[in-house]
Amino acid sequence: MREQDLLWSKLEKSGQRFIKSSILEEFQKDPERHDNFSFRLDNLFVDLSKNLIDTKVLKDLQQLAAVQKVDKLKEGLFSGAILNNTENRPALHVALRAPSSSVITVEGTNIVPKVERLLEEMMSFANSIRSGAKKGLTKRRFTNILHIGSGGSLAGPMMVLRALSSYQKPNIQIDFVGNADSSDLQSKLRKLDPETTLVVVASKTFATQETILNAETTKKWMLERLGPSSLSQHFVAITGNKNRAKSFGVIDQNIFEIWEWVGGRFSLWSAVGLTIILGIGTENFKQFLQGARTIDEHFLNTAPENNLPLVLGMLEIWYTSVLKFGSRAIIPYDHRLEGFVSYIQQLEMESNGKSVDKDGQKMTQKTAAVVWGSEGTNAQHSFFQLLHQGTSVIPCDFLIAAVSDEEFAGHQEVLLANCLAQARALMTGRSLQKTTKRLSDLGLSSQNASRLAPHSTFIGNRPSTIFLFKQLTPNILGQLIAIYEHKTFVQGALWNINSFDQWGVELGKELTNEILPLLKNKIIDPNLDRSTANLIEEVFKFRK
Ligand code: F6P
Repeated sequence: MREQDLLWSKLEKSGQRFIKSSILEEFQKDPERHDNFSFRLDNLFVDLSKNLIDTKVLKDLQQLAAVQKVDKLKEGLFSGAILNNTENRPALHVALRAPSSSVITVEGTNIVPKVERLLEEMMSFANSIRSGAKKGLTKRRFTNILHIGSGGSLAGPMMVLRALSSYQKPNIQIDFVGNADSSDLQSKLRKLDPETTLVVVASKTFATQETILNAETTKKWMLERLGPSSLSQHFVAITGNKNRAKSFGVIDQNIFEIWEWVGGRFSLWSAVGLTIILGIGTENFKQFLQGARTIDEHFLNTAPENNLPLVLGMLEIWYTSVLKFGSRAIIPYDHRLEGFVSYIQQLEMESNGKSVDKDGQKMTQKTAAVVWGSEGTNAQHSFFQLLHQGTSVIPCDFLIAAVSDEEFAGHQEVLLANCLAQARALMTGRSLQKTTKRLSDLGLSSQNASRLAPHSTFIGNRPSTIFLFKQLTPNILGQLIAIYEHKTFVQGALWNINSFDQWGVELGKELTNEILPLLKNKIIDPNLDRSTANLIEEVFKFRK
């Protein structure tokens, strides 16, 4: 039997033990548990002690990490090894925030100076727009940016600018469009003045159907109002395919390159970050990069037991593959982090939602949990019922700031109290006996108390992790994103998955391209499956 298979069966055995274990008892068994399972980084404290894990399981997981050569893969990640084996390329998002002194070689060339040059160009361009030095065709200052993109070319800047809204200047408004649904674009264009609007089209391939459709419609909108010469001054492209951007009409000076070795879901560190700089300015963007760099250094240089992304990644495979929890909820107690959930959804589910390993062999382990969630306190009034009393165990990540930069007194304490109380309630639960007593104490007859008690009993023993940070700053946001990135990488390494390709999105795109001409030309293809053909017929009837 291979060493990793032995370790997996050892973990399975521990899993049986954990089905009956209690987090509260684990605290009693290990008085150091709180310290052993918490991590202090730069203005960030992460508490993992309310999880269904002990130091013994952690040691077994560390052994698995050693057998799976996570350390070697990690070095490869930072040095440009070809980790994306199906597309034959490195995954070098870490190079985009590396210190100037680092040397990272791709095809014989150190890419760090190139990265720095691009960052300078992005900052200088953004400064010229923010200061008003660069103007539109009619010599009016740009007051609005319309960022068009999909997936990683959209979600990153959209999430970051929402999260850091208090760092934005009110004189530049930034809107985002991603959906092919014209109502998305229409609602944005309706309020924009073409004379003061800069359009940023972000697409690594410059071929994503929705992005190009939205970009073409916006171009038409702009040209109808300002004429063809507006293209050169009002359109910017962020892309890995310069030729396509040029044939669209974007001039050379307005094209910012995305390198091949930057994966879409990691691209907010690349030229895609231009929109972030336009929003929060150069100094804040540097802080954002610095936050991620802090985590890179921590991940690279910290011993396994104190290495936060490593432990988080190990915990996740323990939950998904061994304890078979099917999903994990992310609940930021910060309204501005509402986009964080969908951002992490793409990061984790596009990276590790795979059924075969790196070598194309069918996975024997269950991979990538469904990531979902929404912001507290709103979520408490919707799906928390299921978190507390449903039949599935759903580990939760809670994210919260100790200090709010908003002005209204008293709100942050309420938010903190709710967040801490929910995590505590999930863990402690409330037994049938305690519930019955409570109901009797409240004055219910013993018959009514017994009748209602099962309904307000809480199973408890439900795991959660708390990410407590001082304040939601660019630096902290950079740290949080990098933690999730490396955690996702660790999971892939433990499962022996290529976390950097996404072949699973292709079939749907191919079939769209087959169905679109049928819809346009009113054709019913007899070779289609009966359900799809029938639906197309129904569409024709409605559109008559
Ligand atoms: O469809 C998935 C995907 O390829 C993502 O990985 C990527 O972030 C997104 O599409 C957008 O791709 P592009 O930047 O090439 O438009």
